[in-house]
Amino acid sequence: MTSRSDNPERALRDSLGMFATGITVVTARAPNGTPVGLTVNSFNSVSLDPPLIVWSLAAHLGNVEVFSNCEYYAINVLADDQQDMSQRFATRDIDKFAGLELRDGLGRAPLLNDCCAWFECRNTIRHDGGDHLMFVSEVVRHTHEPARSPLVYFGGQYRTLAR
Ligand SMILES: Cc1cc2nc3c(=O)[nH]c(=O)nc-3n(C[C@H](O)[C@H](O)[C@H](O)COP(=O)(O)O)c2cc1C
Repeated sequence: MTSRSDNPERALRDSLGMFATGITVVTARAPNGTPVGLTVNSFNSVSLDPPLIVWSLAAHLGNVEVFSNCEYYAINVLADDQQDMSQRFATRDIDKFAGLELRDGLGRAPLLNDCCAWFECRNTIRHDGGDHLMFVSEVVRHTHEPARSPLVYFGGQYRTLAR
């Protein structure tokens, strides 16, 4: 058992890192049409009826306003060959959408190519979640590619499933 008392935040991150997740890119459009997006692994399912999902956004990030006020956003679930996409959308101050082919989802939220699944969500409920803002939203449209495998995040590293 490991728990580093000298750095409680690091210890919490390490323990949380034992929970394997998929990786998503959450996207929306600013009112002026500019696409915005970031890499997110806090995505999860909440409810089937009504169909609700959750994810959380660090409250200090620049796009909090856009995500708080947009009517729709999209969750792009990354496939196991999209590690570079995860890195790109986790990098600050670059043109994240440069050179990407996009489709427009509801509210013109950008849909990325070659993902495992896509969820188009109506931005309904937001909760204060400490240093994050939690979004609980209704899934309005969704689709998936059963032949693709997901990119996995575990222990702070990217993994792929053994096929
Ligand atoms: C694997 C991974 C998962 C992440 N999950 C989240 C998350 O759930 N919520 C969040 O706010 N940031 C998360 N981030 C960090 C953001 O992607 C990163 O801060 C990004 O640069 C934010 O976009 P911005 O700089 O354009 O605001 C994650 C990063 C990585 C690499």
